[in-house]
Amino acid sequence: MSDATVIPVPAHYLAAGTRNTADEYATRYAESIANPDAFWAKEAQVVDWMKPFTQVKDVSFNPEDLRIKWFADGELNVAANCLDRQLAKRGDKTAIIWEGDDPRESRHITYRELHAEVCKFANVLTAKGVKKGDRVTIYMPMIPEAAVAMLACTRIGAPHSVVFGGFSPDSLAGRIEDCGSTVVITADEGLRGSKAVPLKANVDNAIRTPAGSGVTTVIVVRRTGGSVNWDNKRDFWYHDLMTGASADHAAVAMNAEDPLFILYTSGSTGKPKGVLHTTGGYLVYVTSTFANMFDLREDDVFWCTADVGWVTGHSYLLYGPLANGATTVMFEGVPQYPDWSRIGKVVDKHHVSILYTAPTAIRALMREGDGPTLESSRKSLRLLGSVGEPINPEAWNWYHRVVGDSRCPIIDTWWQTETGGVLITPLPGAVDMKPGSASRPYFGIKPAILDNDGSLMKGVCEGNLVITDSWPGQMRSIYGDHKRFAETYFNVFPGVYTTGDGARRDADDYYWITGRVDDVLNVSGHRMGTAEVESALVSHVAVAEAAVVGFPHDIKGQGIFAYVTLQEGHEPSEELRKALVIHVRAEIGPIAAPDQIQWAPGLPKTRSGKIMRRILRKIAANEFDGLGDTSTLADPSVVDSLVQGRRAEA
Ligand code: WTA
Repeated sequence: MSDATVIPVPAHYLAAGTRNTADEYATRYAESIANPDAFWAKEAQVVDWMKPFTQVKDVSFNPEDLRIKWFADGELNVAANCLDRQLAKRGDKTAIIWEGDDPRESRHITYRELHAEVCKFANVLTAKGVKKGDRVTIYMPMIPEAAVAMLACTRIGAPHSVVFGGFSPDSLAGRIEDCGSTVVITADEGLRGSKAVPLKANVDNAIRTPAGSGVTTVIVVRRTGGSVNWDNKRDFWYHDLMTGASADHAAVAMNAEDPLFILYTSGSTGKPKGVLHTTGGYLVYVTSTFANMFDLREDDVFWCTADVGWVTGHSYLLYGPLANGATTVMFEGVPQYPDWSRIGKVVDKHHVSILYTAPTAIRALMREGDGPTLESSRKSLRLLGSVGEPINPEAWNWYHRVVGDSRCPIIDTWWQTETGGVLITPLPGAVDMKPGSASRPYFGIKPAILDNDGSLMKGVCEGNLVITDSWPGQMRSIYGDHKRFAETYFNVFPGVYTTGDGARRDADDYYWITGRVDDVLNVSGHRMGTAEVESALVSHVAVAEAAVVGFPHDIKGQGIFAYVTLQEGHEPSEELRKALVIHVRAEIGPIAAPDQIQWAPGLPKTRSGKIMRRILRKIAANEFDGLGDTSTLADPSVVDSLVQGRRAEA
């Protein structure tokens, strides 16, 4: 796609009035860079403070003296901002529209109702001994009680760790152990596409492992009524505990830098890391970005299709919308159930005005042709958003033309679990769109592109995307491992935040994200570390060694390609291939299942034993020319046999 393809914000959109015009964006952006303290001191008033801050920013990106603090002497409470302060004006406004897996099931929950539920559950948690600072693990389906649980934690100052319901018992146990939580909130079962997901049974299995053995309390929401095992000392029904709980609860005043939540995400090495976000800066940042990037209006109905188990579900399904008093849709199901017309039908049913989804969903919908989408009118839509992975211009154009009826602007929002909120996006009304480009930075964000030696690149260029100064929503640490935090993000190029993404900057100063430059895969918008999948594979008795790389996949963006070397005495077979896929699903979860497994007599390694992934990526992508210099390999013939193997499969 040439950089010249520019799609201006449509005149009818501008005519309705926008939060930011092009000039306002330019002026405010310049101010935010010239004087970040003044800009953020003012912008921080988008939230209510129990005790006003006097300091704005205290930051050092020096890896030896890493310090990231915002509004450090202020006090506030996240739940009070999302609920209590909305009651006067919006008590009867719908906070959450819940759309069940079954299209006949939906519920509207007002701000007043949600406030009462959260107060009750905050009292329940307190009665169960949960105190400020205690970590609570949430392993829930997409039901309103997930939001209640998260908000109740923030109300009492207990950092939550939400674990996506698709993760396996082992993955869950590892996350429970890492943050040392003794309380788990779950449901009997989840429902996705009419299939039951055995959440409580997974929790039981996680607790049975040594890593999960510290759990003393499990609170279970009855969702399906499916049968579950029960431990009378440890397990409690949510509805039993809520009966009789008081709806009076005073939100705890939290220091701005008190931990708010931990969210585990994959890195290029080792186990998933617990990304730690704190209270004040995070809330200011998601409240500010949500309002501006979705150009929020009072009567909007906002639908973010992400699961609360991911950062998008935290920042833009829950906290950003509620802190702004918006109506947010929570969808329990999947886009293809009962069929692919579901997304459009949910839009019509609830009069959704803003739809925020991932390129993988758009590509899957596009593959079905226009038909299913055209079964709905989608006339309530006024704005579309994309998140989680690069969106190819073809998918962008289809989203624009078919889903948005060529009427709705699209914001392509680039960010990460680590960044808390969006850093690069075209603000609707202010920035013209280029299909495939996340375009321009948000207020206060200073992106830069460095070459591999760390030198600053100027003008039109392509290289490593870094951010040179802090913003309030930035992660503060890796839970329990501040050293790893400094090493992962501030040591590669000292003095700046390294994103792990590559980017290109064009002549209009637009940013085009090119994808990860490290060993992190992005499969259907979900992050997966190659090292995690490899370690799951080698934990199978038949596997001696494994190397995992990404390869281009039409729907998922990237697929998982595994090269597997077998132990002596094991032979390649279709059964073994299937067994390995099942094994990885059980170890990590279905999202980590390899799409392809190639048997490898050996792996291409340097003489010092380092696997040459560059070569493996090319072979997986069927790019057999230009494999580069293989003469430094310990055994160059390995490459030929892998190429032959791949050709034979293809
Ligand atoms: C990728 C999800 C291109 C990127 C919010 C990043 C994107 C990783 C975009 C973070 C986008 C996210 N365009 N790439 N608009 N949004 N990414 O932590 O590689 O699950 O580093 O956060 O997703 O994934 P995470």
